[in-house]
Amino acid sequence: MSFVPVNEPVLDGNEEKYLIDCVRSGWISSEGPYVERFEQQFAERVGRRFGIAVANGSVALEVAVATLGLGKGDEVILPAFTIISCAAAVVRAGAIPVLVDCDPLTWNMDVAQVSARITPRTKAIMVVHIYGLPVDMDPLLALAREHGLRIIEDAAEMHGQTYRDRPCGSFGEISAFSFYPNKHITTGEGGMLVTDDPLLAEQCRSLRNLCFQPQQRFVHEELGWNFRMSNLQAALGVAQLERLAEFVGRKRRMGAQYMELLAGTAGVQLPLAATDYAQNIYWVFGVVLDDAAGFDATEAMGRLAAIGIGTRPFFWPMHEQPVFRKMGLFAGERYPVSERIARRGFYLPSGMALTAEQIGRSAAALREVLK
Ligand SMILES: Cc1ncc(COP(=O)(O)O)c(C=O)c1O
Repeated sequence: MSFVPVNEPVLDGNEEKYLIDCVRSGWISSEGPYVERFEQQFAERVGRRFGIAVANGSVALEVAVATLGLGKGDEVILPAFTIISCAAAVVRAGAIPVLVDCDPLTWNMDVAQVSARITPRTKAIMVVHIYGLPVDMDPLLALAREHGLRIIEDAAEMHGQTYRDRPCGSFGEISAFSFYPNKHITTGEGGMLVTDDPLLAEQCRSLRNLCFQPQQRFVHEELGWNFRMSNLQAALGVAQLERLAEFVGRKRRMGAQYMELLAGTAGVQLPLAATDYAQNIYWVFGVVLDDAAGFDATEAMGRLAAIGIGTRPFFWPMHEQPVFRKMGLFAGERYPVSERIARRGFYLPSGMALTAEQIGRSAAALREVLK
């Protein structure tokens, strides 16, 4: 039987047609018309005024941090349990990442821990929605208002998700998305910044494009990056966006199928299907082994691979990253929930192209491994 890959995108809508259009018209760089089209349509989709397409979700965070002027001595609160892109953006800007642990059920940053981490130097909170459920935004927004903190929202995994019926990506002063092929919609590599503030949008655009100046193109007042998205990528994005609602529905059905097949399985914690503020969108279908399982995620993933099932480990916590330890960051800090789920958590095949049969096989394989 063939191996079940952890991810495979679905590209059978207008992707080919729009790509051919790029090739035939010669518009393949970031100057082409699909870029603006994708920016506008995507921003509209998340209820924002401006969209700024960039090369990937990681650099979207770098641009967001730079645009908000966060730098030396500024503290930014973010989850310990996330991808390195979040802390990297803060550290590269010369700002100080301040961590909070995550909630054992949603795996999102534990909002109750944020206020204890606020100091006179705190300037911003980087909110990251993890795996399928959004962060509990209302208490976080209230804290941010009370302390005058800025919000960067990392909605990289949350296309089409809502928090109390408001779209994820509508909460940050600047919010960021990724379009890596494991995301609900993909451009191969790609990312997007969204905001309602015309000045921030302008600054994001400028930083993305080397801070070229309209009057004197090659004279630079500031240092930017070439983080542009190409017309080819944006063409894929426009085609994928046409199917976002369908894709979200697909993912939710996949999650529901896994939940049904794995219900009551001893030795493993399944994702929460819902909280009082959102239904899980199952960007990935994560599981966490109970302590009683007798082995860790690495062992489980090895056993699953041996019977043809692809998996990915959970994120590794920021305070345990050798690169940050070498920089003297997070010395002696402990975030027990993040540490535990990093060692005991992994996700099952979750790509958009996954079939019901493959989900059945993956769930059966997990049950077998846990026996
Ligand atoms: C929460 C989160 N933020 C940022 C990123 C970075 O996005 P990219 O892979 O497009 O650089 C990812 C990627 O998966 C992510 O999951």
